[in-house]
Amino acid sequence: MSITKICCIGAGYVGGPTMAVIAQKCPQIQVTVVDLNQERIAAWNNEDVTTIPIYEPGLAEIVAEARGRNLFFSTDVEKAIDEAEMIFISVNTPTKTYGKGKGMAADLKFIELCARQIAKVAKDNKIVVEKSTLPVRTAEALKSILDHTGNGVQFQILSNPEFLAEGTAVSDLLAPDRILIGGDTTPEGEQAIQSLVAVYANWVAPEKILTTNVWSSELSKLTANAFLAQRISSINAMSELCEQTGADVNEVARAIGMDSRIGPKFLKASVGFGGSCFQKDILNLVYIAKSYGLHEVADYWEQVIIMNDHQKRRFSNKIVQTLYNTVADKKIALLGWAFKKDTNDTRESAAIYVADDLINEEARLTVYDPKVSFSKILSDLDYLESRTPGKNKEHIAAAATAYEACQNAHAIAILTEWDEFRSYDWQKIYDSMQKPAFVFDGRNILDVDQMKAIGFVYLGIGA
Ligand code: NAD
Ligand code: UGA
Repeated sequence: MSITKICCIGAGYVGGPTMAVIAQKCPQIQVTVVDLNQERIAAWNNEDVTTIPIYEPGLAEIVAEARGRNLFFSTDVEKAIDEAEMIFISVNTPTKTYGKGKGMAADLKFIELCARQIAKVAKDNKIVVEKSTLPVRTAEALKSILDHTGNGVQFQILSNPEFLAEGTAVSDLLAPDRILIGGDTTPEGEQAIQSLVAVYANWVAPEKILTTNVWSSELSKLTANAFLAQRISSINAMSELCEQTGADVNEVARAIGMDSRIGPKFLKASVGFGGSCFQKDILNLVYIAKSYGLHEVADYWEQVIIMNDHQKRRFSNKIVQTLYNTVADKKIALLGWAFKKDTNDTRESAAIYVADDLINEEARLTVYDPKVSFSKILSDLDYLESRTPGKNKEHIAAAATAYEACQNAHAIAILTEWDEFRSYDWQKIYDSMQKPAFVFDGRNILDVDQMKAIGFVYLGIGA
């Protein structure tokens, strides 16, 4: 079947950019992105495309090109479902905060709601595409809900996980390493797979479109994230050993990365990985393994999270220890709050946990992030419920520039690798600080020799 109308449920970090690129590359297909969140949809429809709700380099231009032509954002979920031949489910699948599997399993309530709504509204056959990251065998549950509508509509369920990374979403979508599509091995399943292959074939080379069975596709997504996060925890584990032994983790990463079997990517030691997915997806994997009684498998992957938590705590401990074991009433400038550069997303950002530890020690924090608002910073801290919101506000402030954030500070902690941090006038910053002036470079982005020549006490990760 040739697809002419697509609906995507969920206008978030995945649904928005993914559908914008499909719409741009397939002008013959009408793409409608729907969400229950009226504010978010209103922001996607903002006339001024620079104020759309998600910041991603290159995204505003694509939205400007396709919006109103064949790309639409709406809160009318039922209408969009009714009209579409293919429905992507791109809603959030956070870690459960209640009941069985609390703190580990993926919360599938939003997914189930989508399935029930599709079942209720659909009057003709539909292809339902899992775009959200889901536990292996979720398609079975979806199929069971969809097939019990009693109105004779046939559904095909495909798994088409998304591999984009935030900050590079547009380039990842335009030139993906691969597109993965899992479906039933029946003739109808095969037909559905080919319909989705044809959509991507508008801009992706055929050899990059991989088709598998549904379960392999669902599990490959969790596996990819687990392997990526594992590399970061592996290099971070080595960073601690480097600090004890005089080895330099950047040199170690370079040396091992030149082995073509290991490769150079994802070996940057850091204050710890953040983002909405690595932790959630690994916890989900651990939960799945446990639920099959595979305890050694579960324990193996859980170590990736344990190491990451240790790295964040180790970083804040180091700040306290270095500042003569007390940061009470000392001003510390935090540069960066987003979980990585080029995004305004702060979910699970290491900065939140470092700030929380430092506030426990009664430090006074001033944050500068080029894309994150102060209200977001406060709400991230309040969400932890470590103390009252009022108390958080007493300990943290925002600055309009990094220069302002660093003025009179005892120390600077670099928590996000924003490019602009590299090109600052560091001499000017040093001159405005308390002495000795410390820099804790949680991303290893600054020139160590230059910083030391200026007079900073410089501490990176793993050296
Ligand atoms: P998000 O929270 O940014 O967006 C999800 C949206 O779905 C929200 O706007 C929410 O209002 C909406 N929603 C929830 N239930 C709904 C319903 N019943 N009807 C209509 N709208 C509904 O989440 P995200 O970051 O886009 O992630 C979505 C999924 O994609 C997750 O499973 C995630 O693991 C996966 N994923 C995310 C990324 C990423 O970089 N963020 C990358 C790959 C995969
Ligand atoms: C990650 C994956 O890279 C995507 O393929 C996947 O689609 C996505 O998760 C998802 O499922 O949500 P994302 O979390 O957006 O993407 O960003 P990454 O570039 O993977 O960075 C994750 C975290 O790891 C960031 O905090 C980053 O700073 C950190 N990181 C990354 C390191 O500390 N060191 C590295 O070498 C690389």
